[in-house]
Amino acid sequence: MKLDGSISAVVTGGASGLGEGTARALAAQGVKVAIFDMQADKGEAVAAEIGGVFCNVDVTDDASVAAGFEKARAAHGQERICVNCAGIATGMKTVSRKKDTGEIKAHDMAQFERTVRVNLFGTMRVLSQSAAGMVTADRLDDGERGVIINTASVAAQDGQIGQAAYSASKGGVFAMTLPIARDLAQEGVRINTILPGIMWTPMMAGMDQKIQDALAAMIPFPSRLGTPQDYASLALELARNVYINGECIRLDGAIRLAPR
Ligand SMILES: NC(=O)c1ccc[n+]([C@@H]2O[C@H](COP(=O)([O-])OP(=O)(O)OC[C@H]3O[C@@H](n4cnc5c(N)ncnc54)[C@H](O)[C@@H]3O)[C@@H](O)[C@H]2O)c1
Repeated sequence: MKLDGSISAVVTGGASGLGEGTARALAAQGVKVAIFDMQADKGEAVAAEIGGVFCNVDVTDDASVAAGFEKARAAHGQERICVNCAGIATGMKTVSRKKDTGEIKAHDMAQFERTVRVNLFGTMRVLSQSAAGMVTADRLDDGERGVIINTASVAAQDGQIGQAAYSASKGGVFAMTLPIARDLAQEGVRINTILPGIMWTPMMAGMDQKIQDALAAMIPFPSRLGTPQDYASLALELARNVYINGECIRLDGAIRLAPR
């Protein structure tokens, strides 16, 4: 797909981190961008800077997502690109044992469900509502109508201690990529998934510098945390290259996560 002012995009999680980097990179190509996020202040500010629109959307809610698409499409027409970056990071062991009292607790299922609801169900809700619009649009070059880009994580493949819920949510995003590509193939809609490694975003920024340095040292090459620009560069290529479809790509400097 040629990225220019004739194309519009929706980026979830676009108020921050990887989504923000992608929204900015798309806008720099002239693409009209709608940001779906719950952080209204940050989302409005990014949208204003890039000449896009902000839609206050909670990806866990059908009506909220539908209203977001209504607003985005009223402003920019049918989106051809849907990038899903909205997500949350959670951590809890399958069984935890309190150090002081020795009390044993099974995994909190409310936390497990919330993680899957945002990361997996939220991604499916947004991409399916987006695809439902894309299939009504005219075909572009190569018969293409649109492209979806999802965000899983290397934790879909090598989840660490405490990542059962997060890995389950991202493993679902990873696993559904091929069947969705097959579902949408006749419609000319592609889908690909990025599995980021350890990226420097607000999700990470709160972390102690020493821990960040230790994480960077674990990455074979380049030995630094990934950036929103690294992510955006791949996301844009996945949009541009019509022959990449149904693929899941690690973006991780060759790291394989250890158990902890
Ligand atoms: N940072 C990393 O190292 C890393 C690694 C692997 C995968 N990821 C994934 O990349 C994606 C982006 O992460 P990031 O590091 O940029 O995080 P981030 O916290 O900077 O951005 C995530 C954005 O998603 C939004 N969001 C959260 N829940 C939402 C909801 N219910 N509805 C709408 N928006 C919601 C947040 O408001 C936030 O703006 C996430 O899916 C994350 O799991 C990040």
